Amino acid sequence: MDGGGERESTKHEVEAEYHCHDFDWEDLRADVEANPSFSYHLCPFPTTTTTDSPPAPQSEAWKSFHRRHASGKFFKERRYLLKEFPELLNSKECAKVLEVGCGNGSTAVSILRCSPSITVYACDCSEDTLQKANEIVFNTQGVDAKDRFHPFLLDVSKEAFPDWLFCNWCQSSGAKAVGLSLDSGHHNIRNEQPIVLKENQCCIHGIDVITMIFTLSAIPYDLMLATLRRCVSVLKPGGLVLFRDYGIYDMTMLRFLPHQRVGFREYIRADGTFSYYFSLDTVRELFDAAGLLELELEYCCVRSVNRKNGKNMRRVWVHGKFQKPTS
Ligand SMILES: C[S@@+](CC[C@H](N)C(=O)[O-])C[C@H]1O[C@@H](n2cnc3c(N)ncnc32)[C@H](O)[C@@H]1O
Repeated sequence: MDGGGERESTKHEVEAEYHCHDFDWEDLRADVEANPSFSYHLCPFPTTTTTDSPPAPQSEAWKSFHRRHASGKFFKERRYLLKEFPELLNSKECAKVLEVGCGNGSTAVSILRCSPSITVYACDCSEDTLQKANEIVFNTQGVDAKDRFHPFLLDVSKEAFPDWLFCNWCQSSGAKAVGLSLDSGHHNIRNEQPIVLKENQCCIHGIDVITMIFTLSAIPYDLMLATLRRCVSVLKPGGLVLFRDYGIYDMTMLRFLPHQRVGFREYIRADGTFSYYFSLDTVRELFDAAGLLELELEYCCVRSVNRKNGKNMRRVWVHGKFQKPTS
């Protein structure tokens, strides 16, 4: 799960990780598709029979994962994200960012550091990792997170975002209600989240930027579209979704064994966590179906050397930037 921030990177590796084209993805594809030992990754996945017992919810595996790694030693600040997504640096005054599946805060810390006017709302399905993220954010030197970091528990694959992010009244009035006082059209939701809301505020009036960094791949493919739609529902018109995740034929995909394959381009690790590998077409279809416009979408192809065995590694990530239409 190195893309998930769980290994130390050298300075060179970190700098190399954004917008990289060390090799051509089509060359990698040709190599993989011509290699018979990888053929099981390519074939269609058989549909499941109704007699199979339902699998445990995927979020449970993540909760156990975070419980086992409570030391937070996998924390790695993702400073390269600001180079990859410069709009974070240039974001407007008082921008609100939602980090979906925040883990230990690797992405949140970088965003908080880049501008004192950004507030980060961060959700995860694991209470342990939210606590760790809070600890890390508030103990990181050079980051003043007071009143700017708001972690909350949510299984985004099956639960709606709370009303205090973007209440129905403000959503239906086109997010133009910023600064209005509560009136009878608003639900009284203040009691549910008094910490976040100021007096006379019904909600925070939506999110300017959503970051999904190695989170969508952790969610079963069948639940991805509904997950994305939930995210889009709390985004302001014109708001951005910044996406980075595993790309197909990444070295880590090719390491999975046949019995770990649980769907087309979908795998389960020994610890029960899921990992999906995206093609650009799949990302395009999903984000388009969720109502987002594509601004940028490409593979980042990075060649690096395994420090333990000296072997050449070809890493593939998908970089994407999407926008919610303004009307
Ligand atoms: C690979 S980590 C990425 C963490 C973070 N975005 C980063 O940049 O390091 C994936 C995170 O997604 C979270 N996650 C997985 N399934 C989730 C779900 N259904 N709802 C909310 N969070 C989830 C996991 O707990 C984990 O912290």
